[in-house]
Amino acid sequence: MIFESDFSLKNYNTFGINAKANQFVAVHSKEELASVLQNHNDIFILGGGSNMLLTRNIEKLVIHVALKGIEIVDTNEDFVWVKANAGENWHEFVLYCIEKNYGGIENLSLIPGNVGTTPIQNIGAYGVEIKDTFFCCEAMEIATQKLVTFDKESCVFGYRESIFKNELKNKYIITSVTFKLTKKNHYLNTSYGAIETELNTQNITSPTLKDISNAVIAIRKSKLPDPKELGNSGSFFKNPIVSKSSYEKAKANYPEIPHYPISDTEVKVPAGWLIEQAGFKGKRFGDAGIHKNQALVLVNYGTATGAEILAVAKEIQQAIFEKFGIAIEAEVNII
Ligand code: EPU
Repeated sequence: MIFESDFSLKNYNTFGINAKANQFVAVHSKEELASVLQNHNDIFILGGGSNMLLTRNIEKLVIHVALKGIEIVDTNEDFVWVKANAGENWHEFVLYCIEKNYGGIENLSLIPGNVGTTPIQNIGAYGVEIKDTFFCCEAMEIATQKLVTFDKESCVFGYRESIFKNELKNKYIITSVTFKLTKKNHYLNTSYGAIETELNTQNITSPTLKDISNAVIAIRKSKLPDPKELGNSGSFFKNPIVSKSSYEKAKANYPEIPHYPISDTEVKVPAGWLIEQAGFKGKRFGDAGIHKNQALVLVNYGTATGAEILAVAKEIQQAIFEKFGIAIEAEVNII
């Protein structure tokens, strides 16, 4: 293991923020991880760096989880249980599964980040969430270095939520995730309008896993910036879940406000719509901005600091609250 000092994290966060780590080490095995945890208290865990905004230098030891490897842990006629170590790149893992004809995560193609962080915020896109195929994950308790297995129920998944973002925040490091995927009779989720349209455009009537993945990739590429070209962290905000009465109040002034039913008393409102209506879509403040094709995504045009991006986020939150009476909350972790 190589410990580096005063280390730039620019290439380790998809926003491309040039914050520094006091010390940095990449760990490639559970043994290395346990040994680093035994010897250091003041630590910061870094996975793929795709869901965070660094607003300051990290005056701690940054541990980059780089555990690699994919294995089949069980199989029967219909299903396969595939375990991927936390440091595997998510999209490469999706492509590996499609190649083997393992179904269930094709709608989650091209999401940036690593496998180990996917359960933390229960990543989701185009009608599918990680919880739909999640079987279990293994995690190391930071305080004791003990390995614990969490099944689906104990992860308490919700919309962009899990126990790892709440009660167990900063208590465990996920080392691997096991997915239960289909080997045949795949359940293809094409219900999301944009997927259907994309498949129709391509004249595909009985899509394969690969067709769905390609459709998702095409949709994402048309709307979402590639972090390699333009720093970003995907959706910066969550779509707010509001009471029906708050929604009705906003609707009185803005009759066209979209909404999706959540329960008898709550609805989800697309934050991208609110931000666009408030006039922020495509705006730029120095090197910080709001993406031109998807208002939920904040971008770094080059040398924006995390604090500058955060200032834009706060301005958006305030404007939305004043205009619609709806509070929107960041989805990314603000560090
Ligand atoms: N909308 C606008 N303007 C915008 C963006 C969206 O009016 O600039 C409206 C759209 O017209 C549509 C609605 O908002 O009526 C929903 O838009 P879209 O289908 O693009 O999805 P989203 O709610 O904006 C969510 C996820 C994305 C995911 C897509 C597709 C969240 C916070 N975001 O976005 O996830 O890819 O659905 O499933 O739930 C991510 O988390 O990083 C991410 C990209």
